[in-house]
Amino acid sequence: MASRPEIQAPPEIFYNDIEARKYTSSSRIIEIQARLSERALELLALPEDGVPRLLLDIGCGSGLSGETLSENGHNWIGLDISPSMLDIALEREAEGDLLLGDMGQGLGLRPGVIDGAISISAVQVHFIVFTILIIILYFLFYRSSLLRS
Ligand SMILES: C[S@@+](CC[C@H](N)C(=O)[O-])C[C@H]1O[C@@H](n2cnc3c(N)ncnc32)[C@H](O)[C@@H]1O
Repeated sequence: MASRPEIQAPPEIFYNDIEARKYTSSSRIIEIQARLSERALELLALPEDGVPRLLLDIGCGSGLSGETLSENGHNWIGLDISPSMLDIALEREAEGDLLLGDMGQGLGLRPGVIDGAISISAVQVHFIVFTILIIILYFLFYRSSLLRS
């Protein structure tokens, strides 16, 4: 992946069959995603009582982050907008239940159904676009205030 995916196309388009397979077969990516997921689990600070929790993996992709949840004994539901990524998760026999959908649309789960949520490398897609938008707005307002004075 030469440049940032979020700049190239919306995630459901960018993560097509080819990119989804490329992403999931990179040993470097597999290792990084596992480490990030371990850290996210630490930050969730779930009780260390050996009881499996039900976690939501927002932007679960091909199941790399979910794999860490399974390895730690948890059950999970994975939500992703890319059918190709979810196909690979199925192919890899991800242990989570997989849902195709946009995180921006919510999930319709009742309060208290899940014990926690992680989102590994998925929210940046929105964050970068949001940041660019703020910079553009800033310059538009800045320019118009200069013109008025
Ligand atoms: C870099 S991958 C990370 C996948 C997985 N969390 C991991 O650690 O390997 C980012 C994922 O976020 C998904 N994604 C991006 N925007 C999304 C949205 N609005 N709703 C659901 N999934 C989204 C993409 O389809 C992609 O599978």
